[in-house]
Amino acid sequence: MNYRRLGRSGLKVSELSLGSWVTYGNQLDAGGARECMAAAWDRGVNFFDNAEVYAAGKSEEIMGEVLKKLAWPRLKYVVSTKFYWGITDGPNEKNTLNRKFLLNAIDGSLKRLQLDYVDLVYCHRPDPNTPIEETVWAMHDMIERGKALYWGTSEWSAAEIMAAWQLAERHHLRKPVVEQPEYNLFHREKVEKEFARLYEDIGIGLTTWSPLASGLLTGKYRNGVPAGSRGALPRLKFMVAELTDKAKNDAVAKLAPVASELGCTLAQLAIAWCASNPNVSTVITGASRASQVEENLAAADVIPKLTREVLARIDAIVGAQPA
Ligand SMILES: NC(=O)c1ccc[n+]([C@@H]2O[C@H](COP(=O)([O-])OP(=O)(O)OC[C@H]3O[C@@H](n4cnc5c(N)ncnc54)[C@H](OP(=O)(O)O)[C@@H]3O)[C@@H](O)[C@H]2O)c1
Repeated sequence: MNYRRLGRSGLKVSELSLGSWVTYGNQLDAGGARECMAAAWDRGVNFFDNAEVYAAGKSEEIMGEVLKKLAWPRLKYVVSTKFYWGITDGPNEKNTLNRKFLLNAIDGSLKRLQLDYVDLVYCHRPDPNTPIEETVWAMHDMIERGKALYWGTSEWSAAEIMAAWQLAERHHLRKPVVEQPEYNLFHREKVEKEFARLYEDIGIGLTTWSPLASGLLTGKYRNGVPAGSRGALPRLKFMVAELTDKAKNDAVAKLAPVASELGCTLAQLAIAWCASNPNVSTVITGASRASQVEENLAAADVIPKLTREVLARIDAIVGAQPA
């Protein structure tokens, strides 16, 4: 496993990492989560992604329980959480990045994770009803109070990220160092076009999500929704149309020969493709079982095989972004 700097920060994260969305607290209990995290750790993963809202706090509780059991040295792993949606009801408890919410939310997460601090905290979505300046000050204060080490954004626009960074610069506050966007073979625009200036100009790193487009890029949805898959979960019914989209599944079928020529699976090809973008600090993978973790992390060996020529073939199949 290689380790990359999180943007211009000095923090090093494994180029492939593991997240807990959908899985922990829904498909996996602490035992299953432990198997997945241990499998990832054994393969060199040092970054584990979480969020307050995942399974309404249960995902953090499970990760906290697993971290306690596995007892890895704290210096050796990086844990994140994210705030925006909240897990209780009230005007200052939901859909906000105001100071009151953020400085309360971090205490709840630390308790559930059983940690003294989290390494990375994300503002999970932009909040049009709170001045960005208020959010930047709250994130700065969270770090100054020792509850987090770095902060970033998730699914913010380039303009919002730039505004936050400039406010922090102007007031000598802790700057956002990372953005967490969706990035996969079917979802490229933001990372490859909109954010283009952010990497050089302000050194933003990327921790990207859904490298398999929720499993679509493994080819498992080519003949409908398989039992036991994410697409079969009743609360994720809204995803089925996308997962079974004919044009996308046809493109996945055309990627299969490229994967077999490289001696890898479709999942490995899709994950390695995300990591082949040098602006990506880490590709956050997801898995509902340890065997998927093992398969997916072997994508690290595929990254060097993605030559210009292979990347051009992939672009020709999925349709590259317009210049
Ligand atoms: N910031 C955000 O807004 C945001 C949003 C979403 C995710 N994230 C983060 O990104 C992480 C990864 O996202 P994701 O879970 O959507 O990633 P993904 O890689 O697109 O999808 C993962 C899912 O695909 C299936 N899968 C994985 N490996 C497979 C394999 N080798 N063969 C067949 N099926 C396989 C599994 O679901 P089944 O086995 O159930 O089918 C697994 O849970 C999340 O855990 C979370 O930490 C962040």
